[in-house]
Parts: sequence; structure tokens; C-alpha cells
Amino acid sequence: MRWIDEELEKLKRENLYRERIVLEGLRDFCSNDYLGLRRNPEVIEESVKVLRETGIGSGASQLVSGYTKYHRELEEKLSDFKRVPRCVLFGSGFLANVGVIPSLVEKGDIILSDELNHASIIDGIRLSKADKYVFKHLNYEELEEFLSKNRGKYKKALIVTDTVFSMDGDIANLKRLTEICERYDCMLYIDEAHATATIGRGGLDYFGIPFKDYVIVMGTLSKALGGYGAFICGSEKLIEYIINKARSLIFSTSLPPSVCAGVKKAIEIVEENQSLIKELRTIEKKLTEIFKSLNLDFRYHGTPIIPIFVYDEGEALKIRNELLKEGIFLQAIRYPTVPKGKARLRLTASLNYTEQDLKFLKEALEKVLGKEEGLRRTS
Ligand SMILES: Cc1ncc(COP(=O)(O)O)c(C=O)c1O
Repeated sequence: MRWIDEELEKLKRENLYRERIVLEGLRDFCSNDYLGLRRNPEVIEESVKVLRETGIGSGASQLVSGYTKYHRELEEKLSDFKRVPRCVLFGSGFLANVGVIPSLVEKGDIILSDELNHASIIDGIRLSKADKYVFKHLNYEELEEFLSKNRGKYKKALIVTDTVFSMDGDIANLKRLTEICERYDCMLYIDEAHATATIGRGGLDYFGIPFKDYVIVMGTLSKALGGYGAFICGSEKLIEYIINKARSLIFSTSLPPSVCAGVKKAIEIVEENQSLIKELRTIEKKLTEIFKSLNLDFRYHGTPIIPIFVYDEGEALKIRNELLKEGIFLQAIRYPTVPKGKARLRLTASLNYTEQDLKFLKEALEKVLGKEEGLRRTS
């Protein structure tokens, strides 16, 4: 097995080697627990109650005996929250994307995908037999040009995009995309992993677009909602179809009921506390003030994902390691998660942060800035 050594050596040489860091004694500034709901006492209480009643697992897939009233109640709560007719749960966001995308299109169809879409979307597209066209990030002129020339060659067309892009934090223009879908008779698949409960209820809510039956809304339960798992929301017929066709739903064990109960409580908390998302914006602004004062090369798009650009992979790793020494966990994101030469520290805003945490972060960044030039804005 010498090839494994060679592959690992190559990754190390290119500064692309990955290792897991135990989150012990460190302040976490890169999790997706944007609203701090993961450790919310009411969420934990609800989840533990159901955990004691149902045990730690669900025992089977949804289509065998793994579908409980807790799954059904969460689906109803999610379709209500997203203002979409119906919803179905998945084991994770990755499973939803790799299961649903290939079930929607086949040979003779086309998938149109933003170049910065999440890896699970890319893999979902790879599993489908449809043709694909990858358009430049947020470049809807290019998308339209392709459709105007080629739409007639295909039966079905599916446009796929993250709503909030996971590594950049910018937002797809769903208004523009729904217009394009209507003009060229396309379906629209939106991945709301990072948009659910961070920019209102999600992208349709953010842009004030009512639900349309060609829209397929995917989201995760593991980010702002603090739990684990994922969902697809759409028309009644679409969900019925997905339950019958998506292999990652049919052939995979369903979520533990206790997780469903906890996430349902988390959604209720978001619904009852409209101020939570506003408070998140306040934390984001405080973070951007810190980064501005330190002249860091960051981007902010009104979402909790605020990347600090370093560009060079080796430099990003060095900065991450220096921050670890200061007790800060801020992971360096490198290829293939982002393009080569676009390495960054993916900082996220969270309601978990106290004023003291922000001060601690600022001081640590200041200290590391003294040692690592790569952290400073170059342009
Ligand atoms: C945009 C996007 N889609 C899908 C996923 C996958 O979700 P999960 O972590 O539930 O598998 C992620 C998360 O990491 C993501 O950022």
C-alpha cells in the first residue's frame, strides 16, 4: 500500500493535508451553530424527554418502521416554517443532495449549477445521468445565455444553487433565478443549509417570493437549528415522488426521534423570538468592526459566514495553528472545499459569543498579526 503513503505525502507537500482537531479548551469561532440553539436548555429538555421514551436510534428507514410521530411532527413544523406545502426528512444534507438531485433529472435533461455550490450538490450531479453546465459564480447572464441557446435540446432543466454560499457567505439572487426558471421552463433547487433561520426563514422569505411548485427547497437541521439531519420541502406531488425515488431516503436509517423533537423545539424558539436573527446581525457587525480595525481581508454579505482571506494554503495553516496556541479555533479552509489559492479562515457569527469572547478573539488576532503577515489585507 505504498500508494497511500505517496498520496498522503503529496497532500502534505501541497499544504492540503487534513486532520481533525479535538475541540477541547478552545473557543470555537467556526461552527454553524449560528443561533446558539444546539445547547439551548429547552431544546435539550425536549430532546432528552423523547430520547428516554424512544431510545438512541430509530431502528429502521422511514419506509420500514423508522417513521414516528416525531418525524411527522417535525416535517409539518418545517413545511409550516418554510411556508411550503410539504416536507420530508433526510439523514443529512449530504444525503439529501446526493439522493434528490439524481432523482429529479435523467438522460436527456440538463442540470445548471453555480460553480461554488457545495460538494454534496456536485456529487449529486455526478450521480445523475443528465448533462451538466456549470456557470460562473452568481453569473446569471451566462446562465441565461446558455439557456437561450440550448434549452430546446433538453427535456427537463434543473437550476441548482446554494442560497447562502457555505464558504463565502454571499446570497444567490432567487428573484432573478425564479424569473429565469419561468422564462425557460426550469426547476429550481435551492440548498438552504446556511439560509434557514439566518436570513429570515430562508431565501424565499428573504426575497419575498411566494412558493412556486417548480421550486425544491433543501435545508439542514444541523446549522442554525442546532441539531442534525436535513429536509426537502416542495409541492405535495414532489414530496410524494421523492419518498418513492430518492435512494438515500429509501435505503438509509431515519433520524433518531429525539433529534426530531429537539429540532422542532428549536424552530418554535425561532418563531417565537423574531429578535434572534436581528441579534445575529448585531454580532456579525461587531465582528466586522473588529476585522476592519485590524485591516483584515474579509467579506461580509449580511449573513453569519464571514471569511477572512489568506489565499495561500500554507499561510492559512500557519495562522490557524498560531490561533490555536492562543486558544482560538478558526479552521483554515482550503482546496478542494474552496478553489486553489483562495484559502481562508471561515469565521462564523454566533449568538454563543459573549463580549468577552469578542475581546479574546480581537486580542488573539492582534497577537497573530504581529507574527503572520498573510493575515493582513494586501490590496
Ligand atoms: C451548502 C451545504 N449543503 C449541504 C451540506 C451538507 O449538510 P450535512 O452537514 O447535514 O451533511 C452542507 C454542510 O456542510 C452545506 O454547507
